[in-house]
Amino acid sequence: ATLTIALAQGGALPKLAVKPKYRVCFNQSEMDNPWRLAQTKSMQDEAKRLGWTLIFTNANGSAAKQVSDVRSCIAQRVDAIFLTPREQKPLTPIVLEAKRAGIPLFVIDRTVDETVAKPGKDFVAFIGSDFYDEGRRAAEWLVKETKGKAKIIELQGSTGSSPAIDRKKGFADYIKKYPGIQIVASQTGNFTRDEGRKVMEALIQAHPEATAVYAHNDEMALGAITALETAGRKPGKDITLVSIDGQKSALNAIIAGKLGATVECNPRFGVKAFQTLKDYAAGKKIAARLVNEDRFFDITNAKQMLNSAF
Ligand code: AHR
Repeated sequence: ATLTIALAQGGALPKLAVKPKYRVCFNQSEMDNPWRLAQTKSMQDEAKRLGWTLIFTNANGSAAKQVSDVRSCIAQRVDAIFLTPREQKPLTPIVLEAKRAGIPLFVIDRTVDETVAKPGKDFVAFIGSDFYDEGRRAAEWLVKETKGKAKIIELQGSTGSSPAIDRKKGFADYIKKYPGIQIVASQTGNFTRDEGRKVMEALIQAHPEATAVYAHNDEMALGAITALETAGRKPGKDITLVSIDGQKSALNAIIAGKLGATVECNPRFGVKAFQTLKDYAAGKKIAARLVNEDRFFDITNAKQMLNSAF
């Protein structure tokens, strides 16, 4: 049995025929924030423009459901699969399963465990942002803004997801060389506004000495702002906030002086994802990693950029 598995995991990537139209799956992880809605819309809009059939599934925040969603796409013998894996490890085996079934798969937005399933070898490519760099850029801004002196509450994204892991690390690595910058508490807010608010309510009670907040996404930062105001703090005045995503409501919070800055995480995958599929079918060489460009928003550009945000 061991030999069979080893053989099944080796070999070339599945081929894809050139066709005028494709039938593809897009396996979304959840639809509970503006970023997810923008990513889904971008995939749906491009499928519509090209006249392709897009089978959309929503795992509603469950890695187990997402595995069965992908399995059902394999059973339907779609031409290709676009997977945005909720968590790294639980979604890795199904990527290998798609390869064994002969269906090309593209991992988009979040990564799987690449020590087990490698882009360019076990699946066609990874397309998405550099989450580590997003964390680093958030830290760089905060260090400058606070002149190297801050006690930070960190709101992490969903546990086990690649943005939560990499954004934490990118930030932590950068602040290492600044002894005046410390993380006093760090807890998951599961990337949602409501959990961000609830977690901040508890953490600001436990750590009244906090002078800054690093939230792994805008929704949690916006929830944190509500909690801080309820606790009598003045976001943007006695506590500095930085987050990631670059959604419209976060840019409005910057304009209102409550959020300091946000690093964009670009959710517009449609054009790039489907063009990569076409290139792959045409036999072009595909880079194992296609990294999205992310902008940066603070008080210097939030107003001008508002209309281009999601
Ligand atoms: O994977 C991207 C992250 O997931 C976005 O920052 C977040 O808002 C979403 O849920």
